Amino acid sequence: MKFINQSEPDNEGFYQVCKLSDLKEKQGKKFIVNEVQIAVFKIGENVFALNNVCPHQHSAIIYDGFIEDDCIVCPAHGWKFRLTDGKLPSGSKGLESYSVKLLNEFVWIKVIQKKFNW
Ligand code: FES
Repeated sequence: MKFINQSEPDNEGFYQVCKLSDLKEKQGKKFIVNEVQIAVFKIGENVFALNNVCPHQHSAIIYDGFIEDDCIVCPAHGWKFRLTDGKLPSGSKGLESYSVKLLNEFVWIKVIQKKFNW
């Protein structure tokens, strides 16, 4: 598990997560950003960030999934989530997705913690 130095986000709320060169093509990597576990994927020129915890059995394994079409496939039981927005292919709610920006060879991700009221 790679723990992120909890440095301050930039003025748009993005945290510097890693260098672009730290990501391998179509191979997920997990990070903790703003106390949230995320899975980051690089596909061609694009980088996608999703929550790392599969909603099926709450397993923190999304980073270890494989890419199929425009989706990440959970390695446990094959649930699929769209890389662009984390939703199921049907459009139903799936994983949280996070905004990514690439700046000066670094990957910046805006991770907002979800607050639960219970
Ligand atoms: S834990 Fe992800 S599909 Fe079952």
